[in-house]
Amino acid sequence: MKTEIVSAVRAGLAFSGSEADDPSQTGATALVTAESSGGCAKAAKLLREGEVVALPTETVYGLAADALNPIAVARIFEVKERPRFDPLIVHLPRREALDEIAIVESQLARDLIEKFWPGPLTVIFRKRDVVPDIVTTGLETVAVRMSAHPVFCEVVSAVNRPLAAPSANRFGRVSPTTAQHVLDELHGRIPLIVDGGATEHGIESTIIRIVDEMIELSRRGPITEEMLHPFGEVREHTPGSTITAPGQLPTHYAPKTRLIVVNRLPDFSATPGKRAGALSFFPVGGVGNPGSPRPATAATTPDFASVRYLSERGDLREAAANLFRMLRELDAENLDLIVAERVPENGIGAAINDRLGRASN
Ligand code: TXA
Ligand code: MG
Repeated sequence: MKTEIVSAVRAGLAFSGSEADDPSQTGATALVTAESSGGCAKAAKLLREGEVVALPTETVYGLAADALNPIAVARIFEVKERPRFDPLIVHLPRREALDEIAIVESQLARDLIEKFWPGPLTVIFRKRDVVPDIVTTGLETVAVRMSAHPVFCEVVSAVNRPLAAPSANRFGRVSPTTAQHVLDELHGRIPLIVDGGATEHGIESTIIRIVDEMIELSRRGPITEEMLHPFGEVREHTPGSTITAPGQLPTHYAPKTRLIVVNRLPDFSATPGKRAGALSFFPVGGVGNPGSPRPATAATTPDFASVRYLSERGDLREAAANLFRMLRELDAENLDLIVAERVPENGIGAAINDRLGRASN
């Protein structure tokens, strides 16, 4: 598996630097492939020195720093322009490190970890004192996961410390699923991006906590409700009035272009003179080259200047993997409006619809 994902890395990207667009940030960002000599070793060295670097995970690219070094973690907030009240996920170097940073009280949590780690499941626990307040933004809890991505694993193992890593985008924007997306968002602000190719799942990890021996879902993701259900009762977290986690804000993960969500594209009628783009699950009865943008077909998409299909074969996992890339592509087309069609609500579809809802603005 390790070889498979790493072999998807594009060649020839080693050390293409670029200048900062923010005059206060003058560094250059190096983009290295995980395969290039010492890409992971260079990342590990920078992390040990208290720097932040972007790394691929199986969900989205993360902006990593040593979770036990508050100054390094402060850089994450600066680079992302993230508000200091939005806590970070801590990624473990190995399973046993969990008990060093968190208090695990529930057997159900241990069973879930046993099943889904390493992988795209984040679990919220009571934290231990060793975790700096800046990581959890003063909360008594810490969100923890263990990535399965070979590049991330290699780097975090080499550092041998937990890494705090939010998605490697500027605050409020769509999460990056390729190294190029990270470069587009953060060039000049961080010293290094390790390119591990496009991420597998394409949306952020599922976040849960165990409450009264029930699984409370606070962010939908690749580990679906159906996958959690065999372990116990699953219920949706309803955000309390005291803590607001921006990932749970109604508007988040937003493109710059106005986006609306509809149940069916054919029900949408365009405003004359306005250019709209469509994001659809799959072409019902459509024809064309898989994966490529193409002109609207009269049957399904009468009014659109541009159309993207999340999955030509109607596969929800593929749709999730394409979601953020296609949102970025449509966002780059200078449209007046993006019209996104809801996908079926089963499996990872629920997480896709959740992100579409938060992208609407
Ligand atoms: O897939 C992922 O989870 C990616 C990769 C890089 O690991 N990370 C990610 O991080 O999506 P971020 O920071 O973009 O989203 C983390 C979410 C935020 O909505 C944050 O509010 C929530 O996790 N969170 C973190 N710690 C929390 C805590 N102690 N209690 C409640 N929510 C927490
Ligand atoms: Mg994020």
